Amino acid sequence: MKIFIALCLLATTLSLEHSLRGVLRSPQETLKLYGDYKAKEHLQYKDSEDRMRLMLFRSNAELVAQANEESDSAVFGLNFFSAMTEDEKRQYLGLNITGHLPNSAPLSADLMTDVPESKLWTDEEAVTAVKNQGSCGSCWTFGAVGGLETRYQQVSGKLRNFAEQEYLDCVYEGKRNGCNGGWPDDCYTYSAGKGGRLASTADYGYTPSDGKCKSSSKPDAMIAAKISGYQSVGRTETANIAALVAGSLSVAFEVTNYFQQYSGGIIKDTTCRGRPNHAVTAVGYTPEFVLVKNSWGTSWGDKGFVKFARNYHNCDLFEYSSYPKLTKTSETDSTPSDAATDYKAEDGDDKPDPEPVCEDKKQDCVFSKRKCKRNKYAAKCQKTCKKCEDSGECPSGTIKCEDGICRHEHMC
Ligand SMILES: *[C@@H]1O[C@H](CO)[C@@H](O)[C@H](O)[C@H]1NC(C)=O
Repeated sequence: MKIFIALCLLATTLSLEHSLRGVLRSPQETLKLYGDYKAKEHLQYKDSEDRMRLMLFRSNAELVAQANEESDSAVFGLNFFSAMTEDEKRQYLGLNITGHLPNSAPLSADLMTDVPESKLWTDEEAVTAVKNQGSCGSCWTFGAVGGLETRYQQVSGKLRNFAEQEYLDCVYEGKRNGCNGGWPDDCYTYSAGKGGRLASTADYGYTPSDGKCKSSSKPDAMIAAKISGYQSVGRTETANIAALVAGSLSVAFEVTNYFQQYSGGIIKDTTCRGRPNHAVTAVGYTPEFVLVKNSWGTSWGDKGFVKFARNYHNCDLFEYSSYPKLTKTSETDSTPSDAATDYKAEDGDDKPDPEPVCEDKKQDCVFSKRKCKRNKYAAKCQKTCKKCEDSGECPSGTIKCEDGICRHEHMC
């Protein structure tokens, strides 16, 4: 077992700096990596398509290798986007910005003076589990619903999964297909025009397609409060932070190919071109990052979340933010709360390790939460490879770095 762990450690430490680049230099190894990737992502292609996908995969893998070399705070990895065409990648977005300008500058009244240093709604059972829009450009419904859920929880004491599908089916009913994109504030305006209503996901489940509006046959889940419109947030980071103190926000920004391969840490994207194309939900902040909940499932990014660096342009993240205005009713919401996300934002001052190459096929080194709690590096490779269980000596040629991980001396 010791030998296994030692070899694994060695493979991991070597791979951190060299593996992906090295693999991509060899056509044979690239093919093997591509094969492993397809198996992991459950992808199957016919011969002619397979060659095209391999080329896409290669260029995305190059991007991942370069991103990892250049970023000192974020980590990138292969994921379900890594063999997609640009058109396919676009289908996971869906912000239609046509006709919309950035918000105005904040009013001084919007800038609270005593803003806490950190606020993470994920730590307060006030954020629902990460959802998945699938390949339908419906991000605008997820951004809007996410902006609502924490605020409804604050008013009612109940965390509720509200129905993106009602917005997807109904907001542009008879006008256009909601899977081709939309605008989050249109959701709040729609609800306000319908007596403040919105169904729950339990009653009106999500399918990644725009169907006939069924609002008249689905119960209104806005029991303790009604949506009476929306409030735009001033277009600065300070105003967004102040607004986050009271609850989650619907926010928009520009997704790039770089962003789509993100897998953890604090992102600073340098590749934006000033075209916001995606709506998401901001759910908190610390002095280091603004925490955003995405709608691409938990296998993407940091368990479905992403940390944007503070005091950075963040691809227009703070320019289109809003939240729903809620008016309390006299009723109590007595249905039990839906499950909150179990996501915990670790303090993000260290860059996590890229995905380790060794496989956790064996349970040899069982991850002990208590033992590893203080070790941020342990989180990514939980069963083997890391120092969760101290395997004693470091493999020859490596030393134990300050963080307890064995590496070549120059890599500490
Ligand atoms: C984007 O929004 C504009 C303005 O509301 C609308 O005219 C256009 O049809 C929308 N585009 C798509 C692809 O739905």
